[in-house]
Amino acid sequence: MDNFIDLTTIEDIRALAQAGIDLKQNADPSAATIGLNKILTCLYLNPSLRTKLSTEIAAKQLGMHCINLAADSAWTLETRAGAIMNEGAAEHIKEQAMVLSEYSDIIAIRAFPKLKDAKEDYQNDFISKFAKYSKKPIVNLESGSLHPLQGLADLMTIMETINKPNPKIVLSWAPHPRQLPQSVANSFSDTIQKAGYDLTICCPEGMELSDQYAHHAKVSHDQMEAFEDADIIYVKNWSSYHSYGATYEDANWMITGDKMAKTNNANFMHCLPVRRNVVVADEVIDSPNSIIDRQVSNRVHAAKIVLHSILNR
Ligand code: CP
Repeated sequence: MDNFIDLTTIEDIRALAQAGIDLKQNADPSAATIGLNKILTCLYLNPSLRTKLSTEIAAKQLGMHCINLAADSAWTLETRAGAIMNEGAAEHIKEQAMVLSEYSDIIAIRAFPKLKDAKEDYQNDFISKFAKYSKKPIVNLESGSLHPLQGLADLMTIMETINKPNPKIVLSWAPHPRQLPQSVANSFSDTIQKAGYDLTICCPEGMELSDQYAHHAKVSHDQMEAFEDADIIYVKNWSSYHSYGATYEDANWMITGDKMAKTNNANFMHCLPVRRNVVVADEVIDSPNSIIDRQVSNRVHAAKIVLHSILNR
């Protein structure tokens, strides 16, 4: 694997997830030293808890040294080619990519979308430009339209949890007071379907995902109908793709025990952070069917198999 920016370069995402599960079970003892004397530099332009910790732990478990850079530890950047840099930005992304390439063996980047221009966000503008100028492999820690490490961890969690060939997997929109990206929902839909699972996406009208990532998912605007006989309920808020960045308010879309009772004793999943009793009722997230801890644990193993595959290339 050269880069892990989106799934277009991954031949078989299910095989990668299975390799992650195998590595988790210590199938390859040499993994602990594969990254010795190698540097992973992670650039975080936005906050993170899970991604930062899980990626650093994964790197350490492979013997790598991990350096985390926050936005305020780098100079303000210019990203436009040919820009006359006589305003605020002190450094061009070209030089930043060169510097990180000189100091690192792998570079990982989190750069959230601005949610103003769909084209810019869906080109994953910052990380794509960085990759263009970098001499070292790039890992996506969440970009304009995607969060592929979260998607891989979620796929691993479903493969470990569900023991039937055709589970009913539902991705449900839920309310939230802030404007959020579509990245987690896009990556969940993309990853799950590329792994061969059918997906139902339920959301209010106007909140459908882009065709680029919704693929062949069944779309429902009736949450109660969508939940019927489901095996997995994956919950996330996202802002509108079609009225780009617009938010929608309807508290009735919160995930409650009554709604989960419609399912086939489904497991509840959410990538976190989550707003309790806005997105999901306490009774659901605290229930034995909630597998958010498994998702969190698999963030380490997803990062580990991706770094391992890059080191092994
Ligand atoms: N799920 C996730 O990516 O969490 P953080 O934003 O805390 O990294």
